[in-house]
Amino acid sequence: MSLQPIVLRASAVKKAYRIARRALPILHGCDLELARGERLALMGPSGAGKSTFLHVLGLLDRPDSGHVEINGADAWSMGVDGRARLRNASLGFVFQFYHLVAELTAVENVLLPSLIGLNTFEFDRRRKELDGRATELLVRFGLKERLKHRPTQLSGGERQRVALARALFHDPPILIADEPTGNLDRETGEKVLELLFEEQARRQLSLLLVTHDERLAERCERVARMDAGRIQNGLRA
Ligand SMILES: Nc1ncnc2c1ncn2[C@@H]1O[C@H](COP(=O)(O)OP(=O)(O)OP(=O)(O)O)[C@@H](O)[C@H]1O
Ligand SMILES: [Mg+2]
Repeated sequence: MSLQPIVLRASAVKKAYRIARRALPILHGCDLELARGERLALMGPSGAGKSTFLHVLGLLDRPDSGHVEINGADAWSMGVDGRARLRNASLGFVFQFYHLVAELTAVENVLLPSLIGLNTFEFDRRRKELDGRATELLVRFGLKERLKHRPTQLSGGERQRVALARALFHDPPILIADEPTGNLDRETGEKVLELLFEEQARRQLSLLLVTHDERLAERCERVARMDAGRIQNGLRA
């Protein structure tokens, strides 16, 4: 067992959705540890709560109780600005359904998060540099001829490659991917995955990957299972 430090730790995370004034409990106290450079797969049936949990871990959705620590910092106890900074510095997130901005080109989708918060002066100054870097990444991802396409002008596999480029653009140490190939045919999905694992190795990313594919899980060092809002094997042995 490696002695790499834990970069992402969830403890006793609970969450319910409120529908018509009734609480619908989804996460029943979930624990998870991800070590530096580790590939961890999270599997489980549809509706188990995997995406809900990932959104809490990705600092996108607040839990009702429990903690998420990123490099030891208790993210949900911080203020909004501190949490946003922590998220920008630490996390990349690939969504189950791409979540690209329809009005923007591939290049613009990739660099958009890096422009948020800049004033006009900084925006103009940095735009060119960021544009160049986003283009370079998309070219590496095989999208040289698709740089100016908008999401509706891209295939599913191309969209997910743009989404992967966006998630990696700011060079986060942790990548959270929610069934990144769930909406792709097998062949297209495999191409996206090759890219994902290649980037994991190249950047020594800590990777948390939700998948329904056992063969994919085999490429990870550890597999955690989620069923009806509870996790097995979330902690390192
Ligand atoms: N915004 C919401 N409001 C109310 N209920 C929700 C909401 N989002 C999800 N749910 C419910 O929470 C449960 C868990 O959903 P979640 O998306 O986390 O499952 P999942 O494990 O990711 O499933 P899949 O494998 O199909 O993606 C589901 O029963 C779903 O209906
Ligand atoms: Mg899901």
